[in-house]
Amino acid sequence: MGVKTKPVSIAVVGSGYVGLVAAVCFAEIGHSVVCVDNDEQKVAMLRDGGVPIHEDFLPELLARHRNQRLQFTTDLSAATQRAEAIFIAVGTPQSDSGNADLSYVDAVATQISRSIGSYKVIVEKSTVPVYTNEWIRRVVERNGTSSTNFDVASNPEFLREGTAVTDFLHPDRIVVGADSEAAADILRAIYAPLTSGDYYRSDNAVIGHRTISDPPPLLLTSTKAAELIKHASNAFLAMKISFINAVANVCEAVDANVEEVARGMGLDKRIGSQFLRAGIGYGGSCFPKDVAAFRYVAEQLSVDFGILTEVEKINEQQKRRFFNKVRSALWTFRGKRLAVLGLAFKGGTDDVRESPAFDVIRMLLSEGCTIVAFDPAATERAKLELPPGPAMQYVDDLYGAATGADALLILSDWPQFGEIDLEKLQTVLRYPIVIDGRNLYDPQQMLEHGFTYLSVGRPAMYPARERAGARVR
Ligand code: UDX
Ligand code: UDX
Repeated sequence: MGVKTKPVSIAVVGSGYVGLVAAVCFAEIGHSVVCVDNDEQKVAMLRDGGVPIHEDFLPELLARHRNQRLQFTTDLSAATQRAEAIFIAVGTPQSDSGNADLSYVDAVATQISRSIGSYKVIVEKSTVPVYTNEWIRRVVERNGTSSTNFDVASNPEFLREGTAVTDFLHPDRIVVGADSEAAADILRAIYAPLTSGDYYRSDNAVIGHRTISDPPPLLLTSTKAAELIKHASNAFLAMKISFINAVANVCEAVDANVEEVARGMGLDKRIGSQFLRAGIGYGGSCFPKDVAAFRYVAEQLSVDFGILTEVEKINEQQKRRFFNKVRSALWTFRGKRLAVLGLAFKGGTDDVRESPAFDVIRMLLSEGCTIVAFDPAATERAKLELPPGPAMQYVDDLYGAATGADALLILSDWPQFGEIDLEKLQTVLRYPIVIDGRNLYDPQQMLEHGFTYLSVGRPAMYPARERAGARVR
């Protein structure tokens, strides 16, 4: 690669959706990286050339850097000893109280502290509550490492699954929370290929919105501010989604189209058009957990942040409203066969963590429906959560799912679901009913194709033969 850079020796702990992408991208911009995970199977798979998650560009970049600038190991101690910067990217799941469970971070910090022989910067990459850097510092010191031998910095990650590699290499901003110059310098050096624009010069660079003349800014803050930036950003984006979902519900009550409303709002630069897509609510490994964790942090600090509770409430209601919409189209549920398109928490990923599709499917199963589901990438993971059986079937073909179904439900926004052959769909469905939780189709077009079409925040479409009964709930 043509990227000129001063390579930094990096260890990334955790090779999940965030850690693996970060490790691969650090190698891509010229650094020497060891990716550490305590899951021996995962490490063996990565060493053998396997790709454990579905993510655009990840297979290509893994093939490019594996055994060159990128190594995989289970040996955290050895990785710590040779690294200048150690990124912690292990999971921070939600505990029963809503608080983030930091036990993995604690365990990793303890292990790291036992292997520090020279100055290191320990960097939080996982989303963590404010004050976590203080705790990591305490843990490392308690285990006998002198405060002169390390710093703890915060470098939150803003990548979205599905577009993670592009998001990482073409970020809107890079946030570095560091309370010492030494730590700030190492992080500046790590991101220099991006902030200088050098990376975008390379012929092999992954294409995205950043260019040599428009490289990303690096924002240097205190560690506490960086921790808060991550929680506040995710909570704000979740709030935007809940807001537009509530607006969608108002639209439904007056037969207006939420997409027109969202477009009109989004053109105001102060509001912006992104994250205003109404649907069945947000899911994934971040928004639900981070809204809950941020609410918990506020509570602990005696700050009344009630809006976060409302954001969660609207998100839960949205799934139930969708379920009621299905009921309004089908009347009764027992014995009905429903085709479900999409199990992932959104299109473009195989991740099913906190997928709103599951909440909807569980409600339908409890009413006695049979579900025949198709997802381009998430089926294997979905089977672990909703095991296959007579009522929960999985197929590997979209039209196969639709064949003989009483209705088709769209639950994830995979782009290919928006390109279905509508003529063919008509012929295979038992009844031409589509209930779209992701607004992938133009309602008028669906009507012209003879479908009963219900979506979110847009007028319901009933062919003439159905219209008389449409008001009966
Ligand atoms: C990430 C972030 O780290 C989290 O804070 C953010 O909010 C969501 O995304 P993610 O990469 O999705 O988590 O987690 P996951 O895919 O579960 O990967 C975590 C990895 O860490 C796993 O491969 C796990 O085996 C590994 N791990 C966990 C360790 O190596 N050591 C541990 O002690 C615990
Ligand atoms: C999110 C943040 O976007 C990212 O910055 C952070 O690092 C991790 O969390 P991710 O969870 O991968 O990323 O997906 P995202 O694209 O943000 O979608 C989250 C959920 O919101 C999905 O269920 C998605 O379908 C839903 N969503 C998103 C909407 O319902 N409407 C929208 O307009 C946007």
